[in-house]
Amino acid sequence: KIYKDAAEASKAVAQEIAKIIRRKNASGKPAVLGLATGSTPKKVYAELIRLHKVEGLSFENVITFNLDEYYPMQPDAVQSYHRFMKEQLFDHVNIAPENCHIPTGTLPLEKLAIFCKEYEAQIEELGGLDIQILGIGRNGHIGFNEPGSLVNSKTRLMTLDITTRMDAAGDFGTLVKVPRRAVTMGVKAIMEAKRVVLLAFGEHKAQVIKEAIEGTVSEKIPASYLQGHQNVRFILDEASASEL
Ligand code: GLP
Repeated sequence: KIYKDAAEASKAVAQEIAKIIRRKNASGKPAVLGLATGSTPKKVYAELIRLHKVEGLSFENVITFNLDEYYPMQPDAVQSYHRFMKEQLFDHVNIAPENCHIPTGTLPLEKLAIFCKEYEAQIEELGGLDIQILGIGRNGHIGFNEPGSLVNSKTRLMTLDITTRMDAAGDFGTLVKVPRRAVTMGVKAIMEAKRVVLLAFGEHKAQVIKEAIEGTVSEKIPASYLQGHQNVRFILDEASASEL
């Protein structure tokens, strides 16, 4: 779906999330949201905060699972996705800290495998993600599932692509300071979400959006796996849709 601009598109996505929260809560169940970081979803979170403040949208019965975190990464570091989520959403709505899940950036290596397994198990126990929000990397990554990730890949430690590290260099000051690895939810968990919404704005995403939507489904562009999802929507602005 192509919107005039990112602001209009983000409002529509926030409305969809609000609807899911209200529907699930009305049936006495928590809404289980898969959340993303990066600059792209920021306006969605801003709109959710507005809906909380103006319309009383409650996050009391909302449980969230984020896609990824750099590894290693202290939660209070400026570039941490833990900090990003607190600043962009969690600190401004009535969500309980214990309901917010984000992959670890601090556990020692030998504890990662069990952490990743438990992360997926927690999602499954709740009946799966009601909606997964995604951005997209210029190399076609979703979460930090870099090119080469398999469709059934699990939540795991991933070595970051050089393109990804270069795109993040601005946030870290220089390329050498960008972590070489990250913990990411796998493609399998993303594909199991009941609904997937991928957002992409701006001309710099136009090429990869074309490849993800119109190209061959392949591990070279992990976002292309979404072509096989039963309930997915790409939310674009005119610039990111310009190569379609
Ligand atoms: C990072 C995140 C991704 C995100 C991507 C695009 O690599 N791990 O989840 O989709 O960046 O970022 P942006 O939205 O800033 O373009």
